[in-house]
Amino acid sequence: MASTYSILLVRLQAGFDQLEPGADPVLRASERSDFQVNGVMAIAKRLGRNPRDVAQELLNYLDLKDVASCEIAGPGFINLTLTSDFLSAQLAELTTDERLAVSTVAEPRTVVIDYSAPNVAKEMHVGHLRSTVIGDSLRRLHEFVGHRVIPRNHVGDWGTPFGMLIEHLIDLGEDTAISSLSMGDLDSFYRAARAKFDGDDSFKERSRLRVVTLQNGDEETNRLWRLLVDQSVHYFSDVYAKLDILLTPSDVVGESFYNFMLEDVVRDLDAAALLTESGGAQCVFAPGFANRDGEPLPLIVRKRDEGFGYAATDLAAIRNRVADLGANEVLYVVGAPQAQHFDMVFAVARLAGWLPDSVRCEHVPFGNVLGPDRKMFKTRAGETVKLVGLLDEAIERAENSLRERASDLTDDERHSVATLVARAAIKYADLSTERQRDYVFDLDRMVAFEGDTGPYLCYAVARIRSIFRRLGDVDRAVSPRFEVADASARALALGLVAFPEAVEDALELLAPHRLCAYLFDLAQRFTTFYEACPVLSSTGALREERLALCDLTARTLELGLGLLGIVAPAQM
Ligand code: ARG
Repeated sequence: MASTYSILLVRLQAGFDQLEPGADPVLRASERSDFQVNGVMAIAKRLGRNPRDVAQELLNYLDLKDVASCEIAGPGFINLTLTSDFLSAQLAELTTDERLAVSTVAEPRTVVIDYSAPNVAKEMHVGHLRSTVIGDSLRRLHEFVGHRVIPRNHVGDWGTPFGMLIEHLIDLGEDTAISSLSMGDLDSFYRAARAKFDGDDSFKERSRLRVVTLQNGDEETNRLWRLLVDQSVHYFSDVYAKLDILLTPSDVVGESFYNFMLEDVVRDLDAAALLTESGGAQCVFAPGFANRDGEPLPLIVRKRDEGFGYAATDLAAIRNRVADLGANEVLYVVGAPQAQHFDMVFAVARLAGWLPDSVRCEHVPFGNVLGPDRKMFKTRAGETVKLVGLLDEAIERAENSLRERASDLTDDERHSVATLVARAAIKYADLSTERQRDYVFDLDRMVAFEGDTGPYLCYAVARIRSIFRRLGDVDRAVSPRFEVADASARALALGLVAFPEAVEDALELLAPHRLCAYLFDLAQRFTTFYEACPVLSSTGALREERLALCDLTARTLELGLGLLGIVAPAQM
């Protein structure tokens, strides 16, 4: 079905085109009427005319009769009020549309999304939480509208630390090492290796040699390296399962995968006359990049010690994604501090001709997760905070809150509901923060049932589902006609028809928080409606309509939350 916004926009566009071909009407929800149309003032300015005259002329061109009434307001806005017939027809159509009017794209793109990317033999910390949760939501959003998503989990599984990690593994003995890693005690393993590396010169030397053996492809060394990687990937998968993240081991295409392509990267950059030697390192100076003193900033492709760095790997990865995977779009969901790295990598890839203008390559940065003291979130001992521990704690708190609320859940049911609520709490708190902003990790606030939280939205769904449970086996409510006479019902209806716009918005801006804000607003509209309009005690067509509005609200919330990677329990 065509969404309400798209129907209005098509009609508005036709009118605007008569004023000035190609002029853009802007449609937004409004307090005073249902919608406000902007764009007339911009046209008037360009044509050097009085905006109200232009608006008046536009009204003659607009063919909206069957969908909305319009009037000029203020200096040249147009207020639209949907006709009851049109709003009713749109709602009736929604009740039988699985996609709730969200259309699929006409031209699906191949979108590579680089997200999560933890490091082998290191704990997943809160920075990876953001990448993982935001990336996962962007993936679901893209897939839902029909794009082909290729997820890439660019794990750090290569480089100098592996010398010391492998030597430490040998010292411990394979079995002991594996059992410590499989328990998810990645950080202690890493720390122990590091401590020996820093304090023991012969270990340091062994580690250095081991890196060389590893890079020369020695079979036994590679087997040990694989063990480390497999154990870690296994552990990451457990974390993903716990959080309900779509990534699987087959999405892991770590830094090591690009290792054999790095020589070519350097050779081809050299052939394109882009390489410059600087302080013994092979660098590319892309125009437009300078350090604080205004000196040109190099992208180091090959270090002085002949080793390749992070940047070389990312260059190889871009080539692979564009040329081999056929990406039309590559998104990197990585923290804001890496902004300059990506800017330079993209610039160099464009210079080298590996990234045509037709391919959109974008760093999707996010802010930091802060502790209660507003500094980087760390344990009291200054260590990184384990993701798994946070989730377990959230489950426990959700379970306690659920226990305090009178409900007829058995202990087992309560535990599974708490698991869903805890995931919702953590994911929603992360996703609802404007992506680029920092936020304070505050479990108490996240698991609260009131306010702009995951549990609140879950609760809104469960409340509606409980209405239907009381009715017996009704799982879908339809209504042929919606009067939405009550102001709160109309406000809810307008919220419901705006869903496709919220999805589109989140996609366009790569901003799940836009969808969160929409869902929270919808849940609030529902609360107001539910207080003003009795559902089960009403009768006849009114009851039918109200039940259908309830059902539509629950489905919209469920679908919307689903696009955020959140499953709301049917009962709480
Ligand atoms: N492993 C890196 C880190 O933990 C993130 C990798 C991001 N992706 C990339 N293509 N560079 O910071």
